[in-house]
Amino acid sequence: MQTKPSVLVARAVFPEILHKLEQHFTVDSNQDDILFSAEELARRLQGKVGVFTTGSERISASLLAQCPELRICANMAVGYNNFDLPAMTSAGVVATNTPDVLTETTADFGFALLMATARRMAESEHFLRAGLWTRWSYDMFAGAEVHGSILGIIGMGRIGQGIARRGALGFGMKVLYCNRKPLDAATEAACQARHVSKTELLQTADHVMLVLPYSAEAHHTIGAAELALMKPTATLVNIARGGIVDDAALAAALRNRTIAAAGLDVFEGEPAVHPDLLTVPNVVLTPHIASATMPTRMAMAGLAADNLIGFLVHGKALTPLNAPAP
Ligand code: GLV
Repeated sequence: MQTKPSVLVARAVFPEILHKLEQHFTVDSNQDDILFSAEELARRLQGKVGVFTTGSERISASLLAQCPELRICANMAVGYNNFDLPAMTSAGVVATNTPDVLTETTADFGFALLMATARRMAESEHFLRAGLWTRWSYDMFAGAEVHGSILGIIGMGRIGQGIARRGALGFGMKVLYCNRKPLDAATEAACQARHVSKTELLQTADHVMLVLPYSAEAHHTIGAAELALMKPTATLVNIARGGIVDDAALAAALRNRTIAAAGLDVFEGEPAVHPDLLTVPNVVLTPHIASATMPTRMAMAGLAADNLIGFLVHGKALTPLNAPAP
């Protein structure tokens, strides 16, 4: 009898997904969800041809050098800044992510965070819970208008386009965007969005939404200089990645009211959060949950598993990020 290939599932996942993988592979799983150090990950990968990762496992050149049998890393995330993609390609290791299945759910969350931020929902809820609500007043927690305002989206991939459609079609917003490459005319028309420079977007938008992938060039896309360009009434929402915003500069801008408010689902060095962000009231903070609905997380885990099965059993990954020489 042919022995099954061995794979590692590096974090806890849905039992159904483990079961599915066990039909094809000998599975070493981590249902206790202990975060592996780089050394532990390398140790657990010995003898494994595939690994199911999440954004918390770093696949580096040094790890790859220690795991010569590894052939595929399937990330349960659309973002893959935990992968050293060039190193994976030169080591002959296939990388996959989970696009499409989370687009609409993540766009919903981006919009929810925008609404919560503009309408001061977290701040007002804390006020109520603290027993401070004793009477109505004309300007109590008066926030910024969402409908009919100007939405600026930085990063206009699938999720950015989903947010643009929600803003334009659902809330009558005027949508501006900037992206490395402008969209084709048909997609621009479907999103009712206009391509502008980053400076024009920052100066004009009432709400700035960050949805661009993390890369070295995208590091601190928003820092003190960019925050200074924004309107003092503006809000900033980051559902992209930590490191896209200079969190220390943002905390200072929120404290000084350079901008009105921010909504953040991702943080530099998360799960640590810059201590200054925890002390400013005009920020809504969530723990990287933009794709977190049960159906979407199940679809993401299913797609990551199908990438392992597709490649290791049938010779073809479903959503590859690279094409290493065979
Ligand atoms: C979540 O952040 C993802 O990249 O899927």
